[in-house]
Amino acid sequence: MADQAFVTLATNDSYSRGAMVLGKSLRNHNTTKKLVALIGREVSEPVQAVLKRIYDEVRTVDVLDSGDTAHLAMMKRPDLGITFTKLHCWSLTQYSKCVFMDADTLVLSNIDELFDREELSAAPDPGWPDCFNSGVFVFCPSMETYGKLLQYCTEHGSFDGGDQGVLNGFFNTWATADISKHLPFIYNLSSIAIYTYTPAFKQYGGNAKVVHFLGKTKPWSYTFDPKAKQISGSVHEAGAHPSFLLDWWTLYSSSVVPMLQVHYGEQPFHSGCVEIEGSSSSARSLEPQLSSDERRQKWEQGQADYMGTDSFENIQKKLDRFLK
Ligand code: UDP
Ligand code: GLC
Ligand code: MN
Repeated sequence: MADQAFVTLATNDSYSRGAMVLGKSLRNHNTTKKLVALIGREVSEPVQAVLKRIYDEVRTVDVLDSGDTAHLAMMKRPDLGITFTKLHCWSLTQYSKCVFMDADTLVLSNIDELFDREELSAAPDPGWPDCFNSGVFVFCPSMETYGKLLQYCTEHGSFDGGDQGVLNGFFNTWATADISKHLPFIYNLSSIAIYTYTPAFKQYGGNAKVVHFLGKTKPWSYTFDPKAKQISGSVHEAGAHPSFLLDWWTLYSSSVVPMLQVHYGEQPFHSGCVEIEGSSSSARSLEPQLSSDERRQKWEQGQADYMGTDSFENIQKKLDRFLK
Protein backbone atom coordinates (compact mmCIF):
# COMPACT_ATOMS: atom_id res chain seq x y z
CA MET A 1 0.00 0.00 0.00
CA ALA A 2 1.60 3.20 -1.16
CA ASP A 3 -0.10 5.42 1.37
CA GLN A 4 0.90 3.40 4.44
CA ALA A 5 4.37 3.34 5.92
CA PHE A 6 6.57 2.17 8.75
CA VAL A 7 8.45 5.17 10.14
CA THR A 8 11.55 5.36 12.30
CA LEU A 9 13.90 8.04 13.58
CA ALA A 10 17.69 8.28 13.82
CA THR A 11 19.35 11.57 14.74
CA ASN A 12 22.89 10.19 14.65
CA ASP A 13 25.03 7.37 13.20
CA SER A 14 24.63 5.07 16.22
CA TYR A 15 20.83 5.02 16.10
CA SER A 16 21.10 4.75 12.30
CA ARG A 17 22.67 1.30 12.76
CA GLY A 18 19.53 0.35 14.63
CA ALA A 19 17.37 1.86 11.88
CA MET A 20 19.24 -0.19 9.26
CA VAL A 21 18.65 -3.44 11.13
CA LEU A 22 14.99 -2.54 11.73
CA GLY A 23 14.48 -1.73 8.03
CA LYS A 24 16.16 -4.95 6.97
CA SER A 25 14.06 -6.97 9.41
CA LEU A 26 10.84 -5.43 8.01
CA ARG A 27 11.95 -6.22 4.43
CA ASN A 28 13.01 -9.77 5.35
CA HIS A 29 9.48 -10.38 6.59
CA ASN A 30 8.04 -9.12 3.30
CA THR A 31 6.21 -6.01 4.38
CA THR A 32 4.06 -4.48 1.65
CA LYS A 33 4.28 -1.03 3.29
CA LYS A 34 6.67 1.83 2.51
CA LEU A 35 9.65 2.38 4.80
CA VAL A 36 10.49 5.92 5.95
CA ALA A 37 13.46 7.05 8.03
CA LEU A 38 13.52 10.50 9.63
CA ILE A 39 17.13 11.54 10.19
CA GLY A 40 19.03 14.39 11.80
CA ARG A 41 21.63 16.50 9.98
CA GLU A 42 24.34 14.86 12.09
CA VAL A 43 23.97 11.56 10.23
CA SER A 44 27.07 11.09 8.07
CA GLU A 45 27.03 10.73 4.27
CA PRO A 46 27.96 7.02 4.05
CA VAL A 47 25.36 6.16 6.68
CA GLN A 48 22.71 8.16 4.79
CA ALA A 49 23.65 6.29 1.61
CA VAL A 50 23.04 2.92 3.28
CA LEU A 51 19.76 4.10 4.81
CA LYS A 52 18.64 5.13 1.31
CA ARG A 53 19.27 1.59 0.05
CA ILE A 54 17.04 0.10 2.74
CA TYR A 55 14.34 2.78 3.11
CA ASP A 56 11.98 4.10 0.41
CA GLU A 57 12.26 7.59 1.84
CA VAL A 58 14.96 9.17 4.01
CA ARG A 59 13.89 12.58 5.20
CA THR A 60 16.07 15.06 7.07
CA VAL A 61 14.23 16.77 9.93
CA ASP A 62 15.16 19.48 12.40
CA VAL A 63 16.14 18.02 15.71
CA LEU A 64 13.75 19.18 18.42
CA ASP A 65 14.82 19.07 22.03
CA SER A 66 12.59 19.25 25.08
CA GLY A 67 15.39 20.98 26.98
CA ASP A 68 13.73 19.50 30.03
CA THR A 69 16.80 18.32 31.87
CA ALA A 70 15.07 18.04 35.24
CA HIS A 71 12.57 15.40 34.13
CA LEU A 72 15.08 13.57 32.01
CA ALA A 73 17.53 13.44 34.89
CA MET A 74 14.75 11.84 36.93
CA MET A 75 14.67 8.96 34.46
CA LYS A 76 18.50 9.03 34.34
CA ARG A 77 18.42 9.52 30.55
CA PRO A 78 19.60 13.09 29.77
CA ASP A 79 19.91 12.04 26.13
CA LEU A 80 16.19 11.57 25.52
CA GLY A 81 15.11 15.22 25.06
CA ILE A 82 16.00 14.67 21.45
CA THR A 83 13.16 12.14 21.14
CA PHE A 84 10.80 15.12 20.75
CA THR A 85 11.99 14.93 17.14
CA LYS A 86 9.72 11.89 16.86
CA LEU A 87 6.71 14.21 16.76
CA HIS A 88 7.72 15.19 13.20
CA CYS A 89 6.22 11.89 12.07
CA TRP A 90 2.75 13.46 12.19
CA SER A 91 3.81 15.77 9.36
CA LEU A 92 4.24 12.86 6.88
CA THR A 93 0.86 13.66 5.33
CA GLN A 94 1.46 11.85 2.03
CA TYR A 95 0.66 8.72 4.06
CA SER A 96 -2.78 8.12 5.50
CA LYS A 97 -1.66 5.72 8.22
CA CYS A 98 1.73 4.85 9.68
CA VAL A 99 3.36 2.69 12.32
CA PHE A 100 6.18 4.40 14.18
CA MET A 101 8.97 2.14 15.43
CA ASP A 102 11.96 3.11 17.57
CA ALA A 103 15.33 2.50 15.94
CA ASP A 104 16.11 0.04 18.76
CA THR A 105 13.34 -2.36 17.73
CA LEU A 106 13.68 -5.55 15.71
CA VAL A 107 10.89 -7.24 13.78
CA LEU A 108 10.65 -11.04 14.12
CA SER A 109 7.71 -11.67 11.78
CA ASN A 110 5.38 -9.81 9.40
CA ILE A 111 3.41 -7.17 11.33
CA ASP A 112 1.47 -5.50 8.50
CA GLU A 113 -1.76 -6.36 10.36
CA LEU A 114 -0.97 -3.39 12.65
CA PHE A 115 -2.39 -1.17 9.90
CA ASP A 116 -5.86 -2.50 10.73
CA ARG A 117 -5.61 -0.55 14.01
CA GLU A 118 -6.47 3.07 14.59
CA GLU A 119 -4.65 6.10 16.02
CA LEU A 120 -3.39 5.93 18.72
CA SER A 121 -2.72 2.24 19.21
CA ALA A 122 0.26 1.13 21.27
CA ALA A 123 1.35 -1.50 23.79
CA PRO A 124 1.53 -0.87 27.55
CA ASP A 125 4.78 0.38 29.00
CA PRO A 126 6.42 -2.37 31.08
CA GLY A 127 7.29 0.11 33.84
CA TRP A 128 3.86 1.80 34.12
CA PRO A 129 1.26 -0.20 32.19
CA ASP A 130 -1.41 2.56 32.38
CA CYS A 131 0.85 4.46 30.00
CA PHE A 132 1.62 3.23 26.52
CA ASN A 133 5.20 2.74 25.40
CA SER A 134 6.03 5.07 22.53
CA GLY A 135 8.54 2.70 20.93
CA VAL A 136 5.83 1.23 18.64
CA PHE A 137 2.57 3.03 17.80
CA VAL A 138 -0.03 3.36 15.07
CA PHE A 139 -0.85 6.93 14.03
CA CYS A 140 -2.41 9.00 11.25
CA PRO A 141 -0.27 11.84 9.91
CA SER A 142 -2.10 15.16 10.05
CA MET A 143 -0.86 18.74 10.16
CA GLU A 144 -3.66 19.55 12.52
CA THR A 145 -2.61 16.89 15.05
CA TYR A 146 1.05 17.84 14.54
CA GLY A 147 0.27 21.45 15.40
CA LYS A 148 -1.76 20.45 18.44
CA LEU A 149 1.03 18.19 19.67
CA LEU A 150 3.62 20.97 19.42
CA GLN A 151 1.24 23.31 21.20
CA TYR A 152 0.72 20.68 23.91
CA CYS A 153 4.51 20.50 24.33
CA THR A 154 4.85 24.22 24.89
CA GLU A 155 1.89 24.43 27.24
CA HIS A 156 2.37 21.27 29.30
CA GLY A 157 5.89 19.98 28.61
CA SER A 158 6.51 16.31 29.11
CA PHE A 159 6.35 14.49 32.42
CA ASP A 160 9.33 12.34 31.44
CA GLY A 161 11.11 14.94 29.36
CA GLY A 162 10.73 12.81 26.21
CA ASP A 163 8.06 12.04 23.62
CA GLN A 164 6.43 9.28 25.66
CA GLY A 165 5.42 11.76 28.34
CA VAL A 166 3.92 14.15 25.78
CA LEU A 167 2.11 11.46 23.83
CA ASN A 168 0.58 9.93 26.95
CA GLY A 169 -0.52 13.38 28.07
CA PHE A 170 -2.03 14.16 24.69
CA PHE A 171 -3.68 10.78 24.02
CA ASN A 172 -4.75 10.56 27.64
CA THR A 173 -7.76 8.29 27.19
CA TRP A 174 -5.65 5.43 25.82
CA ALA A 175 -5.71 3.46 29.09
CA THR A 176 -9.47 3.41 29.47
CA ALA A 177 -11.39 4.34 26.30
CA ASP A 178 -10.93 1.59 23.73
CA ILE A 179 -9.28 -1.77 24.31
CA SER A 180 -8.68 -2.24 20.56
CA LYS A 181 -6.06 0.50 20.85
CA HIS A 182 -4.07 -1.63 23.28
CA LEU A 183 -1.59 -3.53 21.17
CA PRO A 184 -0.65 -6.94 22.53
CA PHE A 185 2.68 -6.84 24.32
CA ILE A 186 4.19 -9.15 21.66
CA TYR A 187 4.28 -6.11 19.32
CA ASN A 188 6.63 -4.28 21.68
CA LEU A 189 8.33 -6.83 23.88
CA SER A 190 10.66 -4.69 25.93
CA SER A 191 13.75 -6.65 26.69
CA ILE A 192 13.72 -5.50 30.35
CA ALA A 193 10.37 -7.22 30.92
CA ILE A 194 11.98 -10.58 30.25
CA TYR A 195 13.76 -10.52 33.58
CA THR A 196 11.02 -8.84 35.56
CA TYR A 197 8.55 -11.63 34.67
CA THR A 198 10.55 -14.60 33.43
CA PRO A 199 7.73 -17.20 33.70
CA ALA A 200 5.52 -15.05 31.41
CA PHE A 201 8.40 -14.73 29.00
CA LYS A 202 8.82 -18.51 28.99
CA GLN A 203 5.11 -18.95 28.36
CA TYR A 204 4.53 -16.26 25.72
CA GLY A 205 7.96 -15.06 24.54
CA GLY A 206 7.92 -17.45 21.60
CA ASN A 207 5.01 -15.45 20.10
CA ALA A 208 6.99 -12.18 20.08
CA LYS A 209 6.72 -10.22 16.85
CA VAL A 210 8.73 -7.14 17.81
CA VAL A 211 11.50 -6.92 20.37
CA HIS A 212 12.40 -3.51 21.79
CA PHE A 213 15.89 -3.03 23.24
CA LEU A 214 14.66 -0.38 25.63
CA GLY A 215 17.16 1.13 28.07
CA LYS A 216 20.56 2.71 28.04
CA THR A 217 22.53 -0.20 26.58
CA LYS A 218 21.61 -0.76 22.94
CA PRO A 219 22.54 -3.74 20.75
CA TRP A 220 25.17 -1.61 19.01
CA SER A 221 26.82 -0.89 22.39
CA TYR A 222 28.15 -4.44 22.45
CA THR A 223 30.84 -6.05 20.38
CA PHE A 224 30.28 -9.18 18.39
CA ASP A 225 32.40 -11.97 17.04
CA PRO A 226 30.66 -13.03 13.81
CA LYS A 227 32.67 -16.25 13.43
CA ALA A 228 31.93 -17.61 16.88
CA LYS A 229 28.51 -15.89 16.90
CA GLN A 230 29.23 -14.47 20.33
CA ILE A 231 28.50 -11.15 21.97
CA SER A 232 30.94 -9.62 24.43
CA GLY A 233 29.94 -7.58 27.44
CA SER A 234 27.73 -8.26 30.44
CA VAL A 235 24.70 -9.25 28.40
CA HIS A 236 22.53 -10.14 31.39
CA GLU A 237 23.27 -6.95 33.29
CA ALA A 238 21.73 -4.87 30.51
CA GLY A 239 18.53 -6.89 30.73
CA ALA A 240 18.47 -7.85 27.08
CA HIS A 241 17.74 -11.41 26.11
CA PRO A 242 20.91 -12.94 24.65
CA SER A 243 19.07 -14.72 21.84
CA PHE A 244 17.36 -11.50 20.63
CA LEU A 245 20.68 -9.67 20.82
CA LEU A 246 22.18 -12.44 18.75
CA ASP A 247 19.35 -12.06 16.20
CA TRP A 248 20.09 -8.34 15.96
CA TRP A 249 23.83 -8.89 15.52
CA THR A 250 23.43 -11.72 13.05
CA LEU A 251 21.32 -9.48 10.81
CA TYR A 252 23.62 -6.48 11.31
CA SER A 253 26.83 -8.37 10.54
CA SER A 254 25.45 -10.33 7.59
CA SER A 255 23.37 -7.68 5.81
CA VAL A 256 24.28 -4.22 7.10
CA VAL A 257 28.06 -4.35 7.59
CA PRO A 258 28.74 -5.30 3.94
CA MET A 259 26.69 -2.29 2.77
CA LEU A 260 28.46 0.04 5.19
CA GLN A 261 31.83 -1.22 4.00
CA VAL A 262 30.94 -0.36 0.40
CA HIS A 263 29.85 3.17 1.28
CA TYR A 264 32.71 3.95 3.66
CA GLY A 265 35.35 3.40 0.98
CA GLU A 266 38.76 4.36 2.35
CA GLN A 267 37.53 6.04 5.50
CA PRO A 268 37.95 4.20 8.81
CA PHE A 269 34.82 2.27 9.63
CA HIS A 270 33.99 0.64 12.96
CA SER A 271 31.54 -2.18 12.53
CA GLY A 272 31.34 -3.21 16.17
CA CYS A 273 32.38 -6.70 15.11
CA VAL A 274 35.55 -8.12 16.67
CA GLU A 275 37.64 -10.97 15.49
CA ILE A 276 38.81 -13.64 17.91
CA GLU A 277 41.78 -12.43 19.95
CA GLY A 278 45.05 -13.47 18.38
CA SER A 279 43.59 -14.20 14.94
CA SER A 280 44.02 -10.65 13.68
CA SER A 281 45.28 -7.29 14.81
CA SER A 282 42.23 -5.52 13.48
CA ALA A 283 39.93 -6.12 16.45
CA ARG A 284 37.41 -3.33 16.34
CA SER A 285 35.00 -2.15 18.95
CA LEU A 286 32.35 0.53 19.30
CA GLU A 287 33.27 0.78 22.96
CA PRO A 288 36.62 2.11 24.15
CA GLN A 289 38.96 -0.81 24.82
CA LEU A 290 39.82 -1.14 28.52
CA SER A 291 43.45 -0.87 29.56
CA SER A 292 45.03 -3.84 31.24
CA ASP A 293 44.81 -2.08 34.63
CA GLU A 294 41.13 -1.26 34.15
CA ARG A 295 40.43 -4.85 33.20
CA ARG A 296 42.24 -6.09 36.28
CA GLN A 297 40.21 -3.71 38.45
CA LYS A 298 36.94 -4.94 36.94
CA TRP A 299 38.04 -8.55 37.36
CA GLU A 300 38.84 -7.93 41.03
CA GLN A 301 35.41 -6.33 41.50
CA GLY A 302 33.84 -9.51 40.12
CA GLN A 303 32.89 -7.86 36.81
CA ALA A 304 34.77 -10.14 34.46
CA ASP A 305 33.70 -10.15 30.82
CA TYR A 306 33.05 -13.89 30.95
CA MET A 307 31.67 -14.12 27.42
CA GLY A 308 34.29 -11.87 25.82
CA THR A 309 37.82 -10.76 26.68
CA ASP A 310 37.92 -12.73 29.93
CA SER A 311 36.38 -15.89 28.53
CA PHE A 312 37.84 -19.23 29.57
CA GLU A 313 39.07 -19.73 26.01
CA ASN A 314 41.00 -16.45 25.98
CA ILE A 315 42.55 -17.05 29.38
CA GLN A 316 43.66 -20.49 28.31
CA LYS A 317 45.20 -19.04 25.15
CA LYS A 318 47.11 -16.48 27.20
CA LEU A 319 48.40 -19.16 29.60
CA ASP A 320 49.46 -21.29 26.63
CA ARG A 321 51.40 -18.33 25.20
CA PHE A 322 53.19 -17.81 28.54
CA LEU A 323 54.05 -21.47 28.87
CA LYS A 324 55.55 -21.52 25.38
N1 UDP B 1 16.64 8.60 19.11
C1 UDP B 1 17.55 9.17 18.22
N2 UDP B 1 18.67 9.77 18.72
C2 UDP B 1 18.97 9.82 20.03
C3 UDP B 1 18.06 9.24 20.94
C4 UDP B 1 16.91 8.64 20.46
O1 UDP B 1 17.33 9.11 17.02
O2 UDP B 1 20.02 10.36 20.40
C5 UDP B 1 15.38 8.01 18.60
C6 UDP B 1 15.54 6.54 18.17
O3 UDP B 1 14.59 6.23 17.17
C7 UDP B 1 15.22 5.83 19.47
C8 UDP B 1 14.05 6.67 19.98
O4 UDP B 1 14.40 8.02 19.63
O5 UDP B 1 14.91 4.46 19.28
C9 UDP B 1 13.79 6.57 21.48
O6 UDP B 1 14.99 6.55 22.21
P1 UDP B 1 15.49 5.22 22.91
O7 UDP B 1 15.12 4.04 22.08
O8 UDP B 1 16.93 5.38 23.27
O9 UDP B 1 14.62 5.23 24.25
P2 UDP B 1 14.21 3.95 25.12
O10 UDP B 1 13.34 3.11 24.26
O11 UDP B 1 15.49 3.26 25.51
O12 UDP B 1 13.50 4.54 26.30
C1 GLC C 1 10.47 5.49 26.44
C2 GLC C 1 10.25 4.90 25.08
C3 GLC C 1 10.90 5.68 24.00
C4 GLC C 1 10.72 7.17 24.23
C5 GLC C 1 11.31 7.57 25.57
C6 GLC C 1 11.20 9.07 25.87
O1 GLC C 1 10.97 4.71 27.42
O2 GLC C 1 10.66 3.55 24.99
O3 GLC C 1 10.35 5.27 22.80
O4 GLC C 1 11.32 7.89 23.19
O5 GLC C 1 10.68 6.85 26.59
O6 GLC C 1 9.93 9.52 26.18
MN1 MN D 1 13.56 2.52 22.27
